[in-house]
Amino acid sequence: MGGGLKLNTIYLVGFMGCGKTSVGKYLSKQLEVPPYDVDSAIEKQRGQTIKEIFHYEGEEAFRNYESLAIRQLPLEHAVVMTGGGAVVREENLTYMKSKGTVIYLKTSFPVLWNRLMKEEERKKRPLLLTNTKEDIFQLYNERSKHYEKSDITILTDDLTAQEVCEQILIELQRFNS
Ligand code: S3P
Repeated sequence: MGGGLKLNTIYLVGFMGCGKTSVGKYLSKQLEVPPYDVDSAIEKQRGQTIKEIFHYEGEEAFRNYESLAIRQLPLEHAVVMTGGGAVVREENLTYMKSKGTVIYLKTSFPVLWNRLMKEEERKKRPLLLTNTKEDIFQLYNERSKHYEKSDITILTDDLTAQEVCEQILIELQRFNS
């Protein structure tokens, strides 16, 4: 399916709950390149969950590990699933754009919020435990301007992970031609 596409590293960005992980897994299969989940890489390297890192070392320490993990990618061609805050540091977005194609999975806030309020989603995300809905909405608005600088934007509200993936493949052909 990835035949004919120029395959550099693909970075998926977007707010928590936009589907980076499920789309990333699917896309990596379609393109026959490995998936690389930045949050999982950090957890493996640090021997702690993201929640524990936030709790014991704070968000700033987590952001440092995150920036490092994005740069320590062991693979030349991969689908990289970043955490929702990876683009807050402008230099991370610049780095990713220099190494590959950055794809923003754009999802409206009500859709995200419904997904994030499911217990299994909520409990693994420290920011959801310490912030109100209004705080998270503010974060969503602040971050949107960073996400919007991506190379490609996919509107995901009414799409399944498979459909998002199909859209990405179409947009990649266009972007690389
Ligand atoms: C974060 C998003 C999380 C994870 C951490 C912080 C954020 O990743 O990196 O909890 O700041 O938005 P997901 O976007 O995969 O939930």
